Amino acid sequence: MESKLFSPYRIKDVTLKNRIVMSPMCMYSSDTQDGKAAPFHFAHYESRAAGQAGLVMTEATAVVPEGRISYEDLGIWSDEHIAGLKQINEGIHRHGAASAIQLAHAGRKADLKDPIYGPSPLPFNEQLQTPNEMSLEDIQNVITAFKNAARRADESGFDIIELHGAHGYLINEFLSPLTNKRSDNYGGSTENRYRFLREVITAVQEVWNGPLFVRISGNEYHEEGNTMKDFLYYAGEMKKQGIDLIDVSSGGVVPAPIHPFPGYQLSYAEEIKRRTAIPTGAVGLITHGIQAEEIVQNERAELVFIGRALLRNPYWPRQAAEELGFTLEGPRQYARAWK
Ligand code: FNR
Repeated sequence: MESKLFSPYRIKDVTLKNRIVMSPMCMYSSDTQDGKAAPFHFAHYESRAAGQAGLVMTEATAVVPEGRISYEDLGIWSDEHIAGLKQINEGIHRHGAASAIQLAHAGRKADLKDPIYGPSPLPFNEQLQTPNEMSLEDIQNVITAFKNAARRADESGFDIIELHGAHGYLINEFLSPLTNKRSDNYGGSTENRYRFLREVITAVQEVWNGPLFVRISGNEYHEEGNTMKDFLYYAGEMKKQGIDLIDVSSGGVVPAPIHPFPGYQLSYAEEIKRRTAIPTGAVGLITHGIQAEEIVQNERAELVFIGRALLRNPYWPRQAAEELGFTLEGPRQYARAWK
């Protein structure tokens, strides 16, 4: 059998050597609390590239300090972050993987002592603060922060940018009727709720020509949340704006139980891909090579994002290849051991 999982995938000028993506995962390891990359990050990301993931994506990286989930998050709100991010990139590129950065603003889910912000003054839960309702000026400032972050991502050497529009963080808060109760142009209709993301994308594209992904939550597990009709509208607009791939996760908008099972979010990625013909990424309890191969062979998604399985085993791609009946070449340094 010819493996599609291990075949290259090209987006604009970037070619991934396979379809396996390390899913963005917060590591709460910026020990100095200033958003700078630490030795842990260098080892963590490089080891997944050595393990032969085709694309290694950083955790949610904050575009402003008040947009962090925790004080230990990675940041990209200042030029001083570039040196550390460059070092992360060098480690990833050393092993032939491509690199991506997830740009994020936590909105009302920022677990910080400083004031926090959201589209509407509704707290996520009793533990987190009530966010300040963002003024039009606040909105413009955050859009500019995403643009500046994209410029810094470029200067840091990333191949791909992903905007974090999922899990109830700021972009998702604007998209969702559960969290966006605004009466201005940024709230109300589906079109208006999309306005913030639309403007973030446009601003980023002023400084970034490379592949641009957006992660969304394709199900909010709440009857008054966004529906598939809304998601198809957003996906259609993203396609028109030139987004290269939608990475489809789910949940996190309001506290609601999720009952995960293998591939539990896959149907959302599949439906968005089928109905809007935009490339998608599948994520969520994809733990086996055969499962990942099935997803790409049946064209249910273009890329497969692996989270916890890659935390447990940085060499997950090798394990997946073995399940599919072949031994993966690389890392080059280990080649003699397999002879
Ligand atoms: C995550 N996830 C996540 N998602 C995201 O978009 N940005 C992030 O920074 C994080 N952070 C994060 C930290 C940790 C420790 C975990 C386990 C997860 C979600 C992650 O990318 C993925 O979507 C889920 O874990 C589901 O995929 P798996 O783990 O079942 O393969």
